[in-house]
Amino acid sequence: MPAAVAATRRPAQTADTVFFPIRHHMPAFDRHVFVCCNQRPESHPRGCCEPEGAAIRDALKEELRRVGRCDVLARVNQAGCLDQCEYGPTVVIYPQGIWYGRVRLADVPRIVQETIVRGQVLEDLRIPDECLNTKGRVPWTPGSPAGEPPAAPSS
Ligand code: FES
Repeated sequence: MPAAVAATRRPAQTADTVFFPIRHHMPAFDRHVFVCCNQRPESHPRGCCEPEGAAIRDALKEELRRVGRCDVLARVNQAGCLDQCEYGPTVVIYPQGIWYGRVRLADVPRIVQETIVRGQVLEDLRIPDECLNTKGRVPWTPGSPAGEPPAAPSS
């Protein structure tokens, strides 16, 4: 076998490796938004992002449609549990890796205009890095630093 051919041969496909053709006609998304729409029973100790998750997903899609064409290629997808349940409803935006928590419907226009279109992080919604993947062990309230318990309601 000629050396040039041997060098380009790929290893044998096994149960753990699957080869697929790389297509170049579809550019990667500039913002790929995943919205947790996971549902759990009310009694589940970790809670879940429903029922707000699905409404937030739909509102993000609608707001993107309303904004129309822009320089950013974005897509909103429903996701299962993103494992940040205690800070939900949860939204994550890739490839930037921006995690938003306690997202409300009222936040949707800002997320689209500021983060998706302009690329700005909304610090008041950003789940601090210290909180991610802690299963809620680090308290967090939107707009507050990580570890700060929620403020007591004023009387
Ligand atoms: S249920 Fe939404 S992040 Fe886990």
